[in-house]
Amino acid sequence: MSRTRLLSPEQEQICYGAMMLARGRLVAMPTETVYGLAGDARNPAAVAAIFAAKGRPSFNPLIVHAPDLATAEGIGIFDAPARALAQAFWPGALTLVVPLRPGAGIASLVTAGLDTVAIRVPAHPVAQDLLRSFGGVVAAPSANPSGRISPTSAAHVMAGLGGRLAAVIDAGPSPVGVESTIIGWQNGRPVLLRPGGIPAETIEARLGQTLDRPEAQAGAPRPAAPGMLASHYAPRAPVRLNAESATGDEFLIGFGTVAGEITLSASADLAEAAAALFDALHRADASARPIAIAPVPDHGLGRAINDRLRRAAAPRDG
Ligand code: TXA
Ligand code: MG
Repeated sequence: MSRTRLLSPEQEQICYGAMMLARGRLVAMPTETVYGLAGDARNPAAVAAIFAAKGRPSFNPLIVHAPDLATAEGIGIFDAPARALAQAFWPGALTLVVPLRPGAGIASLVTAGLDTVAIRVPAHPVAQDLLRSFGGVVAAPSANPSGRISPTSAAHVMAGLGGRLAAVIDAGPSPVGVESTIIGWQNGRPVLLRPGGIPAETIEARLGQTLDRPEAQAGAPRPAAPGMLASHYAPRAPVRLNAESATGDEFLIGFGTVAGEITLSASADLAEAAAALFDALHRADASARPIAIAPVPDHGLGRAINDRLRRAAAPRDG
């Protein structure tokens, strides 16, 4: 364990973060979705350090973060539909899984040996500054220990990973609050690999076509979106979903007309609820009591929220 520096989002401190990245060290960077644990995607030792810091299963590939589409095109191969989505939603909370460009120089641990790569251009101005100061691309999974609740503040990162990375840039709460939506292509059809910060309906409207669900890959060595382990985002205590009220000692997280100790959005606004979700789970977790969560409608951003809640409530791997 060594000391983790807490940086402010000023140019000089962002440059310090970029220098750490250039030296193969890890920096937690604020993005509009969640905080990411960034390391130089072309440095195999830095990428290995990300897996070590998170305690993450090594078959799980990482998202490459680029400052713009032009840089992204140097890493992945974009056909017309992929480029159209990139142009419509980047910078923003969308990740595209495209064929890896030969010679891109990305450490093979980033893609976990797949011939595709997940790429995202974040919109957060501090992530943009960091990427441009660094002048490269970073692999950045959410900055939490593997299987635990994702971080939407520098304090969450410090609590989970403090001492295991060089620095955290504190830019306040992540405005979107859930991870990016991941889209890939299977048999030429667009597939929703992970619901996230951009509603699937918004992407379907842009594509003029519905998104497929990932194919169950029977006997495949890894799931289609390998990070989608059932138990994920897990608080320590048991989680009960669709609760209209608390029973016993439960910590109730409310939504809409169900008022809780924390309410994700009293006005039933799904964007407000997504932004509040992980902080609510962190606070409920800190109470060390069982957790109950009010029902959240399953459309728009509610699909990403319910996806995370189901994983938080899933039986644990141990
Ligand atoms: O919002 C986000 O996407 C955040 C912030 C930090 O940018 N990042 C994030 O990264 O959530 P991570 O590593 O926690 O999520 C990576 C997801 C996993 O579900 C992984 O399986 C999937 O991306 N993925 C990565 N490469 C893939 C590939 N080649 N094919 C299919 N899925 C892939
Ligand atoms: Mg994660």
